Amino acid sequence: MAKDFDTMEDSNRSPNPSIHEVSDPSRRTMLRGGLGALLGGSLGLGTLAGCASIGGMTGGKLIGFESVPISTADTVTVPKGYVAQVIAAWGEPVGLSGENPAFKFDGKNTAAEQAAQMGMHHDGIHFFPLEGMAGGLLAMNHEYVDDGLLHADGTATWSAEKVKKSQAAHGVSIIEVEPKDGQWQVVRPSPWARRITATTPMAVGGPAAGHKLMQTAADPKGTKIIGTFNNCGTGMTPWGTFLTCEENFINYFNGPATPNADQKRWGLQKVDAKMYRWHEHDERFDAVKHPNEVHRHGWVVEIDPTDASSTPVKRTALGRAAHEGATVAVTRDRRAVVYMGEDARFEYIYKFVSRDAIKPGGARANATLLDHGTLYVARFDAEGKGTWLPLVHGQGPLTAANGFADQGEVLIKSRQASDLLGATKMDRPEWTAVDPKTRKVWCTLTNNSNRAAGTNAGTDAANPRANNTMGNIIEWIDTGDFDGTTFAWKHFVLAGDPTLARAEAKGNILGDMYACPDGLWADARGVLWIQTDMSTSAMGKGDLVNLGNNMMLAADPATGETRRFLTGPKGCEITGVTMTPDGKTMFLNVQHPGEPASERNDPANPRAVSNWPDQRADGRPRSATVVVRKADGGLIGT
Ligand code: FEO
Ligand code: CA
Ligand code: CA
Repeated sequence: MAKDFDTMEDSNRSPNPSIHEVSDPSRRTMLRGGLGALLGGSLGLGTLAGCASIGGMTGGKLIGFESVPISTADTVTVPKGYVAQVIAAWGEPVGLSGENPAFKFDGKNTAAEQAAQMGMHHDGIHFFPLEGMAGGLLAMNHEYVDDGLLHADGTATWSAEKVKKSQAAHGVSIIEVEPKDGQWQVVRPSPWARRITATTPMAVGGPAAGHKLMQTAADPKGTKIIGTFNNCGTGMTPWGTFLTCEENFINYFNGPATPNADQKRWGLQKVDAKMYRWHEHDERFDAVKHPNEVHRHGWVVEIDPTDASSTPVKRTALGRAAHEGATVAVTRDRRAVVYMGEDARFEYIYKFVSRDAIKPGGARANATLLDHGTLYVARFDAEGKGTWLPLVHGQGPLTAANGFADQGEVLIKSRQASDLLGATKMDRPEWTAVDPKTRKVWCTLTNNSNRAAGTNAGTDAANPRANNTMGNIIEWIDTGDFDGTTFAWKHFVLAGDPTLARAEAKGNILGDMYACPDGLWADARGVLWIQTDMSTSAMGKGDLVNLGNNMMLAADPATGETRRFLTGPKGCEITGVTMTPDGKTMFLNVQHPGEPASERNDPANPRAVSNWPDQRADGRPRSATVVVRKADGGLIGT
């Protein structure tokens, strides 16, 4: 996976400017209550219990735990008074009826077995409480795979079976979990248990459904897409569905030696041995033969976790991008607003505003809500002002004369549309988070070592550091309501290490140091949880020399105070976090423990970096979900 500083996608050569002047935003009003408080009671959520309520969770100090130190140990560390438990590791059966293949520690599970097991490289996660039950559903992403760990002999031989296993290890898992005797466990079998993979049939909604650029030999109507993969960040909707985001989808396709302008803008290239090689045994991944297949990926996919027979839908109205996450806010008149980062160097921040209000009646009543609305891209201007630029066909430069035949083409080519609109090139926008009480929105800008390097874009107000190895978190409030078309922004924090000599790597954190913020979530009490993704190629060296393993921190958005809450095992990333509605159980994901700097393990020595969580003599490191609780049963973060 091209995530390290050297190989991370950097395809934006547009000359669009960064600094514009806009009028002063009007005064902002406050929206009270969380999404659950706003919608609870009036909008049914099917079989789901209400969303996170802040009832009983207010009062006292926002952050009360004692920080954990930086760690290089092969373990998960949580603060004094907290306990951590591992569940749902890669390869555990998800709980399909009659299909419970045990994980084989030698990597010899078949593709068919993998399709009934937890996928690899856990990422975004969300807990859906079930009405009248102590437990609930966890929906989570499996972003990518390490072929060195996935197969007993790695990539030494390559076969259709290995491609199928890789495809089955990608996508989404839905599992039922419940507390029992003070521990959480996966319920098997469960009627909700499900794997959604790179071979699951999907429907398409929105203006790009059926578009000629979506049509292929296998799907001449352009309305039935096979699979989702490289699912990174997530979101959940107030009507009870899960949003999974297709991030670095382009890396799965074999491109021509000389890509055309559109292919180049999306980073399509000829596959090399380090990549997935799916096209060698699954022709639709050969974009030389099937150039439109790439247009069918890079979308936000909506899944109803309460119906294991439901068809996931690719929501094209939200635009095509290397989507990191999709965080939903609700306007006072109950329209949905979805904030999204596109994680590649010099790409953009988007938001979608639904045309219609959210209806009572859960997923079924809102089955097409995300198909109608307006997509915007952000322009961050100087002096803390900004504008949301609409990606609407026929408006401004988005015309047939400029290569956009219709709205479908605007959405399929959202990068090119955003270039023409003059959106601000950001330092790898990752997750967004929203606090409905204050209406603050945050986005992590994880890093960009190419900022101001050579002929690349220079620094600007929103991306102020050259060679940005440490990352930052930007904060804004949209004017009037979440659908506002202007906003006021500031830097919430510049991450860094104050002990370093390089001025631009010091940062301004008020509290415990970290770098490369990625996962981000505002909980129902208003705590901002920050997860780090220092790439394994850069970890422990250069500007990251003092920062140890990846970690999760908690910040008080009002004061900026930041404390380190958790450190992960060696070679991992911490990503994805959610809680039970009572605020007493947290679930988060440890992704790719044991990943070496090359991002692929040697199958002859799978424990070279880590042996977490099993620590077995014959084991191999596995992504897994960590359940964190307070030993005294208190609220997480206090
Ligand atoms: Fe999948 Fe941008 O992290
Ligand atoms: Ca991420
Ligand atoms: Ca990342």
